[in-house]
Amino acid sequence: MRKFNTKLITTVSAITLSAFFAAGCVGNDATPESKWKTGSDIGGGVTYIMDGDKTGPYYVNSDAHKMSISNGRVPTAAELKAWNVDLQPRGIGSPNGQGIPVGSGSVEEGEELYDAKCLSCHGDFGAGYGTYPALGNGNAYELNKTLTNNRYLDPEADGPTRVFGSYWPQLTTMFWYIRDAMPHPKSKTLTTDEVYALTAYMLYINEIEVNGELVEEEFVLSNENFLDVRMPNEDGFEPNIAGANSLPGVRAYFNNPANYGAQKVKYEERCMTDCQDESAKVVKIQNGGIQSFTPPLSVVRDLPKVKKAGIDVLEVYKNNCSSCHDGMLSVGSDDWANYTTKGIDKVYENAISGTDAGMPAMGGVSMSKENFKTLVDYLITGKIK
Ligand code: HEC
Ligand code: HEC
Repeated sequence: MRKFNTKLITTVSAITLSAFFAAGCVGNDATPESKWKTGSDIGGGVTYIMDGDKTGPYYVNSDAHKMSISNGRVPTAAELKAWNVDLQPRGIGSPNGQGIPVGSGSVEEGEELYDAKCLSCHGDFGAGYGTYPALGNGNAYELNKTLTNNRYLDPEADGPTRVFGSYWPQLTTMFWYIRDAMPHPKSKTLTTDEVYALTAYMLYINEIEVNGELVEEEFVLSNENFLDVRMPNEDGFEPNIAGANSLPGVRAYFNNPANYGAQKVKYEERCMTDCQDESAKVVKIQNGGIQSFTPPLSVVRDLPKVKKAGIDVLEVYKNNCSSCHDGMLSVGSDDWANYTTKGIDKVYENAISGTDAGMPAMGGVSMSKENFKTLVDYLITGKIK
């Protein structure tokens, strides 16, 4: 199971199964400390009393059981069976033995259904609406290229755009998601043909090509051509191992830290400081990978647009210009009048390309010309725009 599919399953089961399992939640505070047994955990953590095969603060807290909980019920076997259907990549191996179901639907039919049942939340052409996710965002192949954009290395780059077209590795996930979870909250009301039509429409709005041809309005998706669809990010998830050996294959993959750029650790036992063997070769992910968690990782799907004209003028001045310009041609000084007579554009130009008299090109900083001009304006006028 690839990472992404796992995530989607969690998401959908959160929507669909919550009705069955909604239960009272009782915090640790309700458990008297005297009931805790400590010490036997290797990490020095708290272990809870076991009673038969049950454990945990909820079970041992008898007060919690006095509350009556009337939310939810145990699902019947038939209900579980009905929900327990999935569609594996390449259409194999679902637990109930179904592969890709027989059926078909066209983009045109999908568009009509979409406008009737999905548009109210997901917006025109899947553009997204408020907190409802976008289902497409233009050409999937172009967006796919943004997945390696790294704002740490290039602060001006747009962040990766992760929508169905650019990011999802398999079409089966889309079919399964629509069939089992949408339209929210009336999930599982679509016929197989309707799911085909809506999936075809998803391909259309993401400008996906099937067998080298762009999906157009008359395109029909069916069980016959389903597996011809290859998503742009098909190989973007590692390890890409499928079939009978998938589990041992995944284990072997993760047993070799070099496969995912991890360093060798020095000690077998737990360790908090100085744990890495410095001689170990570090495997770098393409483009340098993630080099910093500042700003922290976010779960927001659409990354905020970069504030292109955003530099901390005072900070940049202090670090890059003050060593020379505090002494001559200082901030807001009258001496600038001798320079600005030739016109501000010429001043910018000189400062950007550098001068023989000692001004290094852009003062040695690397930033957009627009930002650099803001800096020059500050130097000349003493005011921050
Ligand atoms: C009442 C609002 C609503 C309607 C109507 C609706 N959806 Fe959704 N849809 C959601 C929400 C909310 C999510 C996000 C669920 C989550 O991530 O937990 C979602 C997620 C999705 C996703 C996954 C997107 C992603 O990138 O994770 C797809 C695909 C999708 N919907 C398709 C459809 C289709 C097709 C229809 C019409 C048949 C539809 N939706 C109708 C609310 C709606
Ligand atoms: C190594 C010293 C040095 C540093 C660092 C430096 N400058 Fe200069 N700068 C100079 C000198 C010397 C001149 C005068 C050059 C001349 O008269 O042609 C100058 C001139 C300029 C001019 C006028 C250009 C013209 O010919 O009209 C601007 C604008 C300027 N600097 C901006 C900056 C900014 C902004 C920074 C910081 C990012 C910076 N400088 C960093 C030395 C420096």
